[in-house]
Amino acid sequence: MSKTPMSNIKLAHFDLLEEIGHGGLGVVFRAFDPSLNRHVAIKVLKEEFAQDPKFVEDFLRESQNAAAVSHPHIAQIHFVGEADENRYMVMELVPGRSLEQIVQQDGPMPETKALQVAIDVAEALKAGYAVNQMIHGDIKPQNIVVGDECGAKLLDFGLSQLANVEVDDSSDAVWGSPYYISPERVGRKAEDFRSDIYSLGATIFEALVGRPPFDAEDSTELAVKRLNEKPPLLRTLNPNISKRTEQIINKMLHKNLLMRYLDYDALLGELHKAQAAASGHGPMTDTMDLRRMTGYITQSVPVAPPRSQLPVILVASLVSCLLAGGVFYVLLGKKSTQQATPQTAVQPPAAASAATPGPSASPTAGSSAASKEFDKGIEMFDRYLLDCRRKEAAKELQKLNPSTPQEEAQVLTRTKRMNGQGQFKKLLDEDVNKSGYPMQITSRDGKKYAGGTKKASPEGFSISTPTGEISMRMGEIAPETILAMHDYYVKKAVGSEDVAHRNWLAGITAVTLGLKTEGKALMEKAGQEKPVLYSKDKLVEIIGR
Ligand SMILES: Nc1ncnc2c1ncn2[C@@H]1O[C@H](COP(=O)(O)OP(=O)(O)OP(=O)(O)O)[C@@H](O)[C@H]1O
Ligand SMILES: [Mg+2]
Repeated sequence: MSKTPMSNIKLAHFDLLEEIGHGGLGVVFRAFDPSLNRHVAIKVLKEEFAQDPKFVEDFLRESQNAAAVSHPHIAQIHFVGEADENRYMVMELVPGRSLEQIVQQDGPMPETKALQVAIDVAEALKAGYAVNQMIHGDIKPQNIVVGDECGAKLLDFGLSQLANVEVDDSSDAVWGSPYYISPERVGRKAEDFRSDIYSLGATIFEALVGRPPFDAEDSTELAVKRLNEKPPLLRTLNPNISKRTEQIINKMLHKNLLMRYLDYDALLGELHKAQAAASGHGPMTDTMDLRRMTGYITQSVPVAPPRSQLPVILVASLVSCLLAGGVFYVLLGKKSTQQATPQTAVQPPAAASAATPGPSASPTAGSSAASKEFDKGIEMFDRYLLDCRRKEAAKELQKLNPSTPQEEAQVLTRTKRMNGQGQFKKLLDEDVNKSGYPMQITSRDGKKYAGGTKKASPEGFSISTPTGEISMRMGEIAPETILAMHDYYVKKAVGSEDVAHRNWLAGITAVTLGLKTEGKALMEKAGQEKPVLYSKDKLVEIIGR
């Protein structure tokens, strides 16, 4: 925080003492509140925002939402006010340094400290989500202050929702700090709390090794990398980091939000275990095989140089580059803090398909409202199916309104996938109910259940645990386990007529759950046995090339 002393400037009854820093929305001051005899932080909005009634309305609403969350790891909002045409927010003054300053001044953080920051912030995000399902939307090192006494505190809850106002509505641009924003935001796909999990993963990655997961000379290249490349494994940059921590961060940074943690409790559980192990209080060998579980095997990369300095303000330079048939435009950078990370508006490619397996999500993406609506519907559909929520997917499918031959083809493909997954599940249920599955079941979040399952219904599988029976939907089981179950029953039924059919259905299901290579192999196997029924053309129709 820069310490610019100020002489006796008042805002309402507050004394502004010094500037702490500034960002996209305004300037933050350390101030004194004589009425309560305490120091506070005050964010004064930039003039252009203070005079924009729509912005002010949003600002007040988001501030109220954020003020509803009270948590030891969230900087409390005390008050929003107006004085002399200034709009301002009074907050708790968090003692300490921002995570950005800590890494800049001290270098990478020790693993246990970085994990503690991750735990504190995940707790804060969980608390925010519990109130009105709030997501933060701008997790980055500048928005986390770490003190000696109270651990890490998260700043700016709610405020990131306002950042879009800097871009006029017609531009289709997205805001966010390009080092930490999720691939779904870059690709303009639906975000949820797991987008915060991604940004927290990128932030802790930087805390651990001193550089963000992706780096590039400009924001366009950065966005392209985020959509197309896998982040380096932490241990290739610092071999002293534990495998467990590496796996957690890798899972947080999964391109597909469904493959990140299912909820904050799952994430917190793993972070606590990693922290206990890293501080010598837990099992060091009890590592999760997350990469196998998610099918997300990351390449090793050589140690990279520290983060490049993207310019503080990228002035309206129109940069474009071709990507996956689409065009990226870097429109404008947003002024940020002293050593600021630029906030960048990125227009994404029309068909960035990073998060969805199978054929590209929107080959027909056009500018018309109808086709945007269609693309959104297709995306929701894919998400439901990846999560094995077929009922919801079916509803989504019904809402779709295809208007071109390509859109019709997409609906047909999706329908076939949905039916394939449904038929596969029905057969699997019958098998389980006939002769239980005795092998270990691994959940998507890495928990292992040695007792297998003996009962299945359309709702899910009943799984015995040492503390009783639990029910798990197919979407909550690791896709690899689903395939292992299929394998088990197919082997039992060797010679039976429907093995090809079963492989075909299992293949469709595997592809839909994100295991494209395995799924394709199963479908090809079916094709070798019954080429007329399960032809190459059919395969391409359902899963693409
Ligand atoms: N309540 C607070 N207590 C202590 N320091 C704060 C507080 N609020 C902000 N800061 C500090 O002031 C700096 C500027 O904050 P500000 O939110 O304006 O910018 P930013 O976080 O860099 O960008 P953005 O506008 O996108 O949030 C932050 O990096 C942080 O270190
Ligand atoms: Mg901030």
